[in-house]
Amino acid sequence: MITALQQQFVDLFHTAPKVYRSPGRINIIGEHTDYNQGFVLPAAIEQAAYVAISPREDNELHLYAVSMQEMVVLQLHGLVPKAGAWSNYIAGVAEQFIRMGFTIKGFNLVLHSDVPIGAGLSSSAAIECAVAFALNECFDCALDRLQLVHLAQKAEHEFAGVQCGIMDQFASMMSRRNHLIKLDCRSLEYEYIPFQLGSHTMVLFDTNVKHSLASTAYNNRRQQCEQGVQWIAAQLPHIQTLRDADMGMLEQFVLPKDLLVYRRCTYVVKEIQRVEAACKALKAGDLNKLGELMYETHAGLSCDYEVSCTELDLLVDLVKARPGVIGARMMGGGFGGCTLNLVEADRVDELINSVQISYERATNLPLNYYLVSAADGSGRVDH
Ligand code: GLA
Repeated sequence: MITALQQQFVDLFHTAPKVYRSPGRINIIGEHTDYNQGFVLPAAIEQAAYVAISPREDNELHLYAVSMQEMVVLQLHGLVPKAGAWSNYIAGVAEQFIRMGFTIKGFNLVLHSDVPIGAGLSSSAAIECAVAFALNECFDCALDRLQLVHLAQKAEHEFAGVQCGIMDQFASMMSRRNHLIKLDCRSLEYEYIPFQLGSHTMVLFDTNVKHSLASTAYNNRRQQCEQGVQWIAAQLPHIQTLRDADMGMLEQFVLPKDLLVYRRCTYVVKEIQRVEAACKALKAGDLNKLGELMYETHAGLSCDYEVSCTELDLLVDLVKARPGVIGARMMGGGFGGCTLNLVEADRVDELINSVQISYERATNLPLNYYLVSAADGSGRVDH
Protein backbone atom coordinates (compact mmCIF):
# COMPACT_ATOMS: atom_id res chain seq x y z
CA MET A 1 0.00 0.00 0.00
CA ILE A 2 2.82 2.42 0.88
CA THR A 3 4.69 1.66 -2.34
CA ALA A 4 1.52 2.08 -4.39
CA LEU A 5 0.85 5.42 -2.71
CA GLN A 6 4.41 6.61 -3.38
CA GLN A 7 4.07 5.60 -7.02
CA GLN A 8 0.76 7.40 -7.37
CA PHE A 9 2.33 10.52 -5.88
CA VAL A 10 5.26 10.39 -8.29
CA ASP A 11 2.86 9.94 -11.24
CA LEU A 12 0.88 13.00 -10.16
CA PHE A 13 3.58 15.36 -8.92
CA HIS A 14 6.86 14.02 -10.42
CA THR A 15 8.71 14.13 -7.14
CA ALA A 16 9.27 11.69 -4.26
CA PRO A 17 7.08 12.17 -1.14
CA LYS A 18 7.41 11.38 2.53
CA VAL A 19 4.64 9.09 3.79
CA TYR A 20 2.89 9.31 7.15
CA ARG A 21 0.33 7.04 8.80
CA SER A 22 -2.21 7.73 11.50
CA PRO A 23 -4.73 5.10 12.57
CA GLY A 24 -8.41 4.83 13.38
CA ARG A 25 -9.37 3.77 16.89
CA ILE A 26 -11.56 1.55 18.97
CA ASN A 27 -12.67 2.38 22.49
CA ILE A 28 -13.07 -0.46 24.95
CA ILE A 29 -15.21 1.55 27.35
CA GLY A 30 -15.79 5.21 28.34
CA GLU A 31 -18.15 6.52 25.68
CA HIS A 32 -19.24 10.18 25.67
CA THR A 33 -17.09 10.71 28.75
CA ASP A 34 -14.22 12.61 27.13
CA TYR A 35 -16.00 15.96 26.80
CA ASN A 36 -17.24 15.50 30.37
CA GLN A 37 -13.62 15.31 31.49
CA GLY A 38 -13.94 11.68 32.53
CA PHE A 39 -11.86 8.64 31.53
CA VAL A 40 -11.68 6.75 28.25
CA LEU A 41 -9.94 3.49 27.28
CA PRO A 42 -9.16 3.59 23.56
CA ALA A 43 -6.54 1.97 21.32
CA ALA A 44 -5.48 2.60 17.75
CA ILE A 45 -6.19 -0.10 15.17
CA GLU A 46 -4.23 -1.30 12.13
CA GLN A 47 -6.59 0.44 9.71
CA ALA A 48 -5.19 3.92 9.08
CA ALA A 49 -5.06 7.06 6.97
CA TYR A 50 -1.88 7.46 4.90
CA VAL A 51 -0.68 10.75 3.45
CA ALA A 52 2.11 11.13 0.94
CA ILE A 53 3.35 14.71 0.97
CA SER A 54 5.96 17.12 -0.34
CA PRO A 55 6.21 20.87 0.19
CA ARG A 56 5.66 23.34 -2.66
CA GLU A 57 7.39 26.64 -3.32
CA ASP A 58 4.09 28.53 -3.68
CA ASN A 59 1.05 28.83 -1.40
CA GLU A 60 -1.14 26.23 -3.09
CA LEU A 61 -2.50 22.98 -1.68
CA HIS A 62 -2.79 20.29 -4.35
CA LEU A 63 -4.76 17.49 -2.69
CA TYR A 64 -5.67 14.15 -4.22
CA ALA A 65 -7.93 11.55 -2.57
CA VAL A 66 -7.37 8.05 -3.93
CA SER A 67 -10.83 6.79 -2.96
CA MET A 68 -12.60 9.73 -4.67
CA GLN A 69 -10.15 9.94 -7.57
CA GLU A 70 -10.44 13.66 -7.17
CA MET A 71 -7.89 16.48 -7.18
CA VAL A 72 -8.64 19.69 -5.29
CA VAL A 73 -6.52 22.85 -5.45
CA LEU A 74 -6.83 25.35 -2.58
CA GLN A 75 -5.06 28.54 -1.59
CA LEU A 76 -3.22 28.26 1.72
CA HIS A 77 -4.34 31.69 2.87
CA GLY A 78 -8.06 32.17 3.44
CA LEU A 79 -8.94 28.48 3.89
CA VAL A 80 -12.59 28.00 4.89
CA PRO A 81 -14.69 24.87 5.50
CA LYS A 82 -16.71 23.58 2.56
CA ALA A 83 -19.86 21.60 3.40
CA GLY A 84 -19.26 17.87 3.09
CA ALA A 85 -15.83 18.14 1.42
CA TRP A 86 -13.14 15.54 2.22
CA SER A 87 -10.55 18.29 1.84
CA ASN A 88 -11.86 19.89 5.08
CA TYR A 89 -9.89 17.39 7.16
CA ILE A 90 -6.67 18.53 5.48
CA ALA A 91 -7.43 22.23 5.03
CA GLY A 92 -8.66 22.47 8.64
CA VAL A 93 -5.32 21.21 9.92
CA ALA A 94 -3.24 23.48 7.64
CA GLU A 95 -5.31 26.42 8.82
CA GLN A 96 -4.52 25.61 12.46
CA PHE A 97 -0.77 25.75 11.75
CA ILE A 98 -1.21 29.20 10.23
CA ARG A 99 -3.32 30.32 13.17
CA MET A 100 -0.58 29.23 15.53
CA GLY A 101 1.78 31.57 13.68
CA PHE A 102 3.83 29.03 11.71
CA THR A 103 4.99 30.13 8.27
CA ILE A 104 4.14 27.06 6.27
CA LYS A 105 4.06 26.90 2.46
CA GLY A 106 1.82 25.11 0.06
CA PHE A 107 2.11 21.32 -0.39
CA ASN A 108 1.19 18.41 -2.62
CA LEU A 109 -0.63 15.60 -0.86
CA VAL A 110 -2.12 12.23 -1.78
CA LEU A 111 -4.50 10.69 0.76
CA HIS A 112 -5.39 7.04 1.04
CA SER A 113 -7.27 5.58 3.99
CA ASP A 114 -8.49 2.10 4.83
CA VAL A 115 -10.40 3.25 7.91
CA PRO A 116 -14.04 2.66 6.97
CA ILE A 117 -15.93 5.96 6.81
CA GLY A 118 -18.97 6.44 9.05
CA ALA A 119 -18.20 3.26 10.97
CA GLY A 120 -17.41 5.05 14.24
CA LEU A 121 -13.70 4.30 13.91
CA SER A 122 -12.62 7.95 13.69
CA SER A 123 -11.70 8.05 10.06
CA SER A 124 -11.68 11.85 10.26
CA ALA A 125 -9.33 12.01 13.26
CA ALA A 126 -7.03 9.58 11.45
CA ILE A 127 -6.73 11.98 8.50
CA GLU A 128 -6.36 15.05 10.70
CA CYS A 129 -3.63 13.43 12.77
CA ALA A 130 -1.77 12.11 9.72
CA VAL A 131 -1.81 15.59 8.17
CA ALA A 132 -0.86 17.29 11.45
CA PHE A 133 2.07 14.89 11.92
CA ALA A 134 3.16 15.37 8.31
CA LEU A 135 2.99 19.18 8.22
CA ASN A 136 4.77 19.41 11.56
CA GLU A 137 7.71 17.44 10.14
CA CYS A 138 7.73 18.90 6.63
CA PHE A 139 7.78 22.48 7.86
CA ASP A 140 9.91 21.90 11.00
CA CYS A 141 7.30 23.25 13.39
CA ALA A 142 8.64 21.19 16.31
CA LEU A 143 5.29 20.65 17.99
CA ASP A 144 5.12 17.62 20.26
CA ARG A 145 2.50 14.88 19.91
CA LEU A 146 0.20 16.34 22.53
CA GLN A 147 0.22 19.73 20.83
CA LEU A 148 -0.63 17.98 17.57
CA VAL A 149 -3.53 16.21 19.28
CA HIS A 150 -4.98 19.57 20.35
CA LEU A 151 -4.37 21.06 16.93
CA ALA A 152 -6.15 18.19 15.17
CA GLN A 153 -9.08 18.37 17.59
CA LYS A 154 -9.50 22.10 16.87
CA ALA A 155 -9.48 21.39 13.15
CA GLU A 156 -12.38 18.95 13.70
CA HIS A 157 -14.30 21.56 15.73
CA GLU A 158 -13.85 24.30 13.18
CA PHE A 159 -13.81 22.57 9.80
CA ALA A 160 -15.97 19.50 10.44
CA GLY A 161 -18.32 21.28 12.86
CA VAL A 162 -18.36 18.52 15.48
CA GLN A 163 -17.58 19.65 19.03
CA CYS A 164 -15.77 16.37 19.68
CA GLY A 165 -13.81 15.53 22.80
CA ILE A 166 -10.14 14.66 22.74
CA MET A 167 -10.29 10.85 22.64
CA ASP A 168 -10.07 10.15 18.91
CA GLN A 169 -7.12 12.39 18.12
CA PHE A 170 -5.33 11.30 21.30
CA ALA A 171 -5.75 7.62 20.46
CA SER A 172 -4.66 8.10 16.86
CA MET A 173 -1.52 10.00 17.80
CA MET A 174 -0.42 8.36 21.07
CA SER A 175 -1.32 4.67 20.89
CA ARG A 176 1.09 1.75 21.38
CA ARG A 177 0.79 -1.73 19.94
CA ASN A 178 -0.84 -4.25 22.32
CA HIS A 179 -1.82 -1.55 24.80
CA LEU A 180 -4.89 0.44 25.71
CA ILE A 181 -4.59 4.03 26.83
CA LYS A 182 -6.35 4.92 30.03
CA LEU A 183 -6.71 8.64 29.53
CA ASP A 184 -7.87 11.11 32.12
CA CYS A 185 -9.54 13.69 29.89
CA ARG A 186 -9.29 16.37 32.57
CA SER A 187 -5.59 16.29 33.44
CA LEU A 188 -4.58 14.48 30.23
CA GLU A 189 -2.53 12.13 32.36
CA TYR A 190 -2.44 8.74 30.72
CA GLU A 191 -1.33 5.21 31.35
CA TYR A 192 -0.63 2.41 28.87
CA ILE A 193 -2.40 -0.73 30.00
CA PRO A 194 -1.13 -4.01 28.48
CA PHE A 195 -3.98 -5.54 26.51
CA GLN A 196 -3.80 -9.33 26.47
CA LEU A 197 -6.91 -11.10 25.29
CA GLY A 198 -5.51 -14.62 25.50
CA SER A 199 -8.00 -16.97 23.89
CA HIS A 200 -10.36 -14.09 23.08
CA THR A 201 -10.44 -11.62 20.26
CA MET A 202 -12.24 -8.47 19.19
CA VAL A 203 -14.52 -8.20 16.23
CA LEU A 204 -16.44 -5.16 15.03
CA PHE A 205 -19.79 -5.53 13.35
CA ASP A 206 -20.57 -2.61 11.08
CA THR A 207 -24.28 -1.71 10.77
CA ASN A 208 -23.58 0.06 7.49
CA VAL A 209 -25.77 2.92 8.61
CA LYS A 210 -24.84 6.43 9.61
CA HIS A 211 -27.93 8.39 10.52
CA SER A 212 -27.78 11.96 9.34
CA LEU A 213 -28.64 13.46 12.72
CA ALA A 214 -25.38 12.20 14.19
CA SER A 215 -23.41 15.45 14.46
CA THR A 216 -26.35 17.59 15.57
CA ALA A 217 -27.31 15.00 18.18
CA TYR A 218 -23.69 14.82 19.36
CA ASN A 219 -23.49 18.57 19.93
CA ASN A 220 -26.90 18.45 21.59
CA ARG A 221 -25.81 15.73 24.08
CA ARG A 222 -22.84 17.86 24.94
CA GLN A 223 -25.12 20.82 25.71
CA GLN A 224 -27.41 18.66 27.87
CA CYS A 225 -24.42 17.58 29.95
CA GLU A 226 -23.34 21.20 30.33
CA GLN A 227 -26.86 22.15 31.36
CA GLY A 228 -26.85 19.51 34.09
CA VAL A 229 -23.51 20.80 35.38
CA GLN A 230 -24.84 24.38 35.45
CA TRP A 231 -27.77 23.36 37.64
CA ILE A 232 -25.45 21.59 40.06
CA ALA A 233 -22.88 24.40 40.01
CA ALA A 234 -25.57 26.96 40.87
CA GLN A 235 -25.74 25.22 44.27
CA LEU A 236 -22.26 23.72 44.46
CA PRO A 237 -19.86 26.05 42.62
CA HIS A 238 -16.88 23.68 42.94
CA ILE A 239 -18.60 21.25 40.52
CA GLN A 240 -17.25 22.16 37.10
CA THR A 241 -17.96 19.03 35.03
CA LEU A 242 -19.83 15.73 35.29
CA ARG A 243 -16.53 14.17 36.30
CA ASP A 244 -16.98 15.92 39.65
CA ALA A 245 -20.64 15.01 40.06
CA ASP A 246 -22.24 12.02 41.78
CA MET A 247 -25.69 10.44 41.63
CA GLY A 248 -26.81 12.26 44.78
CA MET A 249 -26.13 15.63 43.20
CA LEU A 250 -27.99 14.64 40.06
CA GLU A 251 -31.01 13.57 42.09
CA GLN A 252 -31.00 16.72 44.16
CA PHE A 253 -30.28 19.39 41.59
CA VAL A 254 -30.95 18.02 38.11
CA LEU A 255 -33.88 15.63 38.44
CA PRO A 256 -36.28 18.33 39.73
CA LYS A 257 -35.43 20.52 36.73
CA ASP A 258 -35.56 18.13 33.80
CA LEU A 259 -35.92 14.37 33.55
CA LEU A 260 -34.21 14.07 30.17
CA VAL A 261 -31.13 16.02 31.22
CA TYR A 262 -31.07 13.92 34.40
CA ARG A 263 -31.02 10.71 32.37
CA ARG A 264 -28.22 11.97 30.14
CA CYS A 265 -26.11 12.96 33.14
CA THR A 266 -26.84 9.68 34.93
CA TYR A 267 -25.41 7.74 32.04
CA VAL A 268 -22.20 9.80 32.05
CA VAL A 269 -21.61 9.59 35.80
CA LYS A 270 -22.06 5.81 35.74
CA GLU A 271 -19.94 5.39 32.63
CA ILE A 272 -17.01 7.21 34.23
CA GLN A 273 -17.23 4.73 37.11
CA ARG A 274 -17.37 1.83 34.65
CA VAL A 275 -14.04 2.81 33.10
CA GLU A 276 -12.36 2.52 36.50
CA ALA A 277 -14.05 -0.84 37.05
CA ALA A 278 -12.98 -2.02 33.59
CA CYS A 279 -9.33 -1.12 34.23
CA LYS A 280 -9.41 -3.05 37.49
CA ALA A 281 -10.94 -6.05 35.71
CA LEU A 282 -8.31 -5.89 32.98
CA LYS A 283 -5.45 -5.72 35.43
CA ALA A 284 -6.91 -8.73 37.25
CA GLY A 285 -7.31 -10.61 33.95
CA ASP A 286 -11.08 -10.78 34.49
CA LEU A 287 -12.42 -10.53 30.94
CA ASN A 288 -15.88 -11.72 31.94
CA LYS A 289 -16.26 -8.69 34.19
CA LEU A 290 -15.08 -6.44 31.35
CA GLY A 291 -17.70 -8.02 29.11
CA GLU A 292 -20.48 -7.39 31.66
CA LEU A 293 -19.45 -3.74 31.85
CA MET A 294 -19.62 -3.46 28.08
CA TYR A 295 -23.20 -4.72 28.09
CA GLU A 296 -24.05 -2.19 30.80
CA THR A 297 -22.52 0.59 28.72
CA HIS A 298 -24.62 -0.40 25.76
CA ALA A 299 -27.81 -0.38 27.83
CA GLY A 300 -26.95 3.11 29.13
CA LEU A 301 -26.12 4.48 25.68
CA SER A 302 -29.30 3.02 24.29
CA CYS A 303 -31.84 3.82 27.03
CA ASP A 304 -30.51 6.86 28.92
CA TYR A 305 -28.13 8.64 26.54
CA GLU A 306 -30.19 7.60 23.51
CA VAL A 307 -27.42 7.63 20.93
CA SER A 308 -27.97 4.06 19.71
CA CYS A 309 -30.30 3.05 16.87
CA THR A 310 -32.33 -0.03 15.95
CA GLU A 311 -29.51 -1.54 13.89
CA LEU A 312 -26.95 -1.25 16.70
CA ASP A 313 -29.42 -2.58 19.30
CA LEU A 314 -30.21 -5.49 17.01
CA LEU A 315 -26.53 -6.40 16.64
CA VAL A 316 -26.02 -6.43 20.39
CA ASP A 317 -29.17 -8.50 20.91
CA LEU A 318 -28.11 -10.97 18.23
CA VAL A 319 -24.77 -11.78 19.88
CA LYS A 320 -25.89 -11.77 23.51
CA ALA A 321 -27.01 -15.37 23.68
CA ARG A 322 -24.40 -16.74 21.26
CA PRO A 323 -21.75 -19.12 22.59
CA GLY A 324 -18.36 -17.56 23.21
CA VAL A 325 -19.48 -13.91 23.33
CA ILE A 326 -18.57 -12.28 26.63
CA GLY A 327 -19.36 -8.63 25.90
CA ALA A 328 -20.74 -6.32 23.22
CA ARG A 329 -21.73 -2.71 22.84
CA MET A 330 -22.13 0.07 20.34
CA MET A 331 -18.95 2.09 19.98
CA GLY A 332 -18.14 5.73 19.22
CA GLY A 333 -20.51 8.67 18.87
CA GLY A 334 -23.52 6.54 17.90
CA PHE A 335 -26.48 6.66 15.49
CA GLY A 336 -24.85 3.98 13.38
CA GLY A 337 -21.33 2.67 12.96
CA CYS A 338 -20.07 -0.46 14.70
CA THR A 339 -20.53 -2.66 17.70
CA LEU A 340 -17.48 -3.94 19.52
CA ASN A 341 -17.63 -7.61 20.49
CA LEU A 342 -15.40 -9.58 22.81
CA VAL A 343 -15.45 -13.18 21.62
CA GLU A 344 -13.65 -16.50 22.09
CA ALA A 345 -11.27 -16.71 19.14
CA ASP A 346 -12.34 -20.16 18.00
CA ARG A 347 -16.00 -19.13 17.93
CA VAL A 348 -15.52 -16.02 15.79
CA ASP A 349 -16.14 -17.56 12.37
CA GLU A 350 -19.32 -19.23 13.47
CA LEU A 351 -20.48 -15.99 15.12
CA ILE A 352 -19.80 -13.91 12.02
CA ASN A 353 -21.76 -16.33 9.84
CA SER A 354 -24.81 -16.44 12.02
CA VAL A 355 -24.92 -12.69 12.74
CA GLN A 356 -24.48 -11.90 9.07
CA ILE A 357 -27.46 -14.03 8.09
CA SER A 358 -29.74 -12.69 10.83
CA TYR A 359 -28.75 -9.04 10.35
CA GLU A 360 -29.12 -9.07 6.61
CA ARG A 361 -32.48 -10.82 6.87
CA ALA A 362 -33.81 -8.34 9.43
CA THR A 363 -32.53 -5.10 7.88
CA ASN A 364 -31.86 -5.76 4.21
CA LEU A 365 -28.45 -4.25 4.81
CA PRO A 366 -25.10 -5.95 4.30
CA LEU A 367 -23.09 -6.59 7.47
CA ASN A 368 -19.38 -5.82 7.37
CA TYR A 369 -17.03 -7.05 10.05
CA TYR A 370 -13.46 -6.18 11.02
CA LEU A 371 -11.11 -8.14 13.23
CA VAL A 372 -9.12 -5.56 15.16
CA SER A 373 -6.11 -5.43 17.44
CA ALA A 374 -4.38 -2.64 19.37
CA ALA A 375 -1.85 -0.95 17.05
CA ASP A 376 0.70 1.88 17.09
CA GLY A 377 -0.20 5.57 16.74
CA SER A 378 0.96 8.14 14.17
CA GLY A 379 4.33 7.95 12.49
CA ARG A 380 6.39 8.17 9.32
CA VAL A 381 6.28 4.94 7.38
CA ASP A 382 8.37 5.31 4.23
CA HIS A 383 11.68 4.35 5.80
C1 GLA B 1 -16.85 10.70 18.89
C2 GLA B 1 -16.05 11.90 19.37
C3 GLA B 1 -15.23 11.55 20.61
C4 GLA B 1 -16.09 10.90 21.69
C5 GLA B 1 -16.93 9.78 21.09
C6 GLA B 1 -17.93 9.23 22.07
O1 GLA B 1 -16.00 9.70 18.42
O2 GLA B 1 -15.19 12.36 18.36
O3 GLA B 1 -14.58 12.71 21.10
O4 GLA B 1 -16.87 11.85 22.35
O5 GLA B 1 -17.66 10.20 19.94
O6 GLA B 1 -17.28 8.62 23.13
